[in-house]
Amino acid sequence: MKINKSEATFSSIVGIGAKLKKQSEEEGLEYLFLNRGVNAVCTIDLTQVIASIDFNSTRIQVYPPNQGLPELRNAIKEHYFLGQSSAENISIVAGGMSGLDLTVQCLRLNTLYFARYYWGSYAKLAKIRGVDTETYDDLAQLVKLAQEQKIDENTAVVICDPNNPTGAKLDDNFLLKSIRQLDEHGVTVIFDSPYRYVFNSDKDDLFSQLARLEHVIITESFSKSMGLSGQRIGFIHSQNKEFNAELNIRILYNMNGVNAFAQELVFQLLSTAVGKKAVQEFRQRTQTDIRKNLIFLMENGLLADELYEGKEPVGIFAVVNKTEEELLKYRIGSVSMDYFCKEKTVQTHALSRICLSVPHQQFLTFFRKLPAPHMADNSY
Ligand SMILES: Cc1ncc(COP(=O)(O)O)c(C=O)c1O
Repeated sequence: MKINKSEATFSSIVGIGAKLKKQSEEEGLEYLFLNRGVNAVCTIDLTQVIASIDFNSTRIQVYPPNQGLPELRNAIKEHYFLGQSSAENISIVAGGMSGLDLTVQCLRLNTLYFARYYWGSYAKLAKIRGVDTETYDDLAQLVKLAQEQKIDENTAVVICDPNNPTGAKLDDNFLLKSIRQLDEHGVTVIFDSPYRYVFNSDKDDLFSQLARLEHVIITESFSKSMGLSGQRIGFIHSQNKEFNAELNIRILYNMNGVNAFAQELVFQLLSTAVGKKAVQEFRQRTQTDIRKNLIFLMENGLLADELYEGKEPVGIFAVVNKTEEELLKYRIGSVSMDYFCKEKTVQTHALSRICLSVPHQQFLTFFRKLPAPHMADNSY
């Protein structure tokens, strides 16, 4: 058997998680797993929503439509695009990763750009699909490159805001202005921001603004903002007909539609009173504890301030000025910033990404044990 090797490596974050779990079991001690990228303040309470789903319906028991259930695509149009797009522009996919991969497959690209500190999967995915990658320091730099015609329609730019790994958020007006400028120059923008809706409400109009732009593709996931990472579902939005036609073909021959149960579940969460209440409660509790954990870091001088200049730290991640090894001594799992950039340096090794989305009391129990001479006495 000859293998078509991609040379991409398995996710280091998954490896770190497995190592920590083993260590915790061997020692019989509790660890705080902040290395993960999921919301763990609470789970979404699906009890009432599940009770209202008819598992015997043909909507669930037969192949779903290739592009996704029309009812779900309409609900997404209303909820995420304030009714200002068409369900034809929305395709259901098996989560954010699948959406990104399908997007990269459909585009004829020379280079995929992403932020200097980035989610490692962008690079792995590009490698598997044979696309070169570059990083950018800020969007203004990319706009300048577009204006100077140094990047064009052979380039796609991934924007993740709030960012993974930093949890930093750009000002929405700046974001929109920069994306419009890139769009005007024919540069494709892949807006991959699955953490945005953890914090934003139904009134958010950014997606409806982005939906009007020819070269913008939105890849969205329900894993983070609805706590449904186990369901493997998300969507892609594009108003480019050629892109959507190619996507439809690739969805067919890749997955033959997306799990109908997951689609029905998200439909109910978006469109029924009990569903909306479950989502709202999940987000409310998640936001509250993320905020408290973030404030604790800021008040105790633990946030890597240099990464937040001109940006607002919001979560669900934050970067702290401790190494992965230092945090591990206090049984806190984290991921070194070495894993989120192209070149490891002394500076990146000194910093670690943690996930803030855990119960505040649990967070305090572990963080209060950290020796921190710079902390105010009364903070303990
Ligand atoms: C920035 C970013 N995009 C996309 C994803 C993919 O999410 P999923 O495949 O769970 O929907 C993740 C997951 O961690 C992520 O951090």
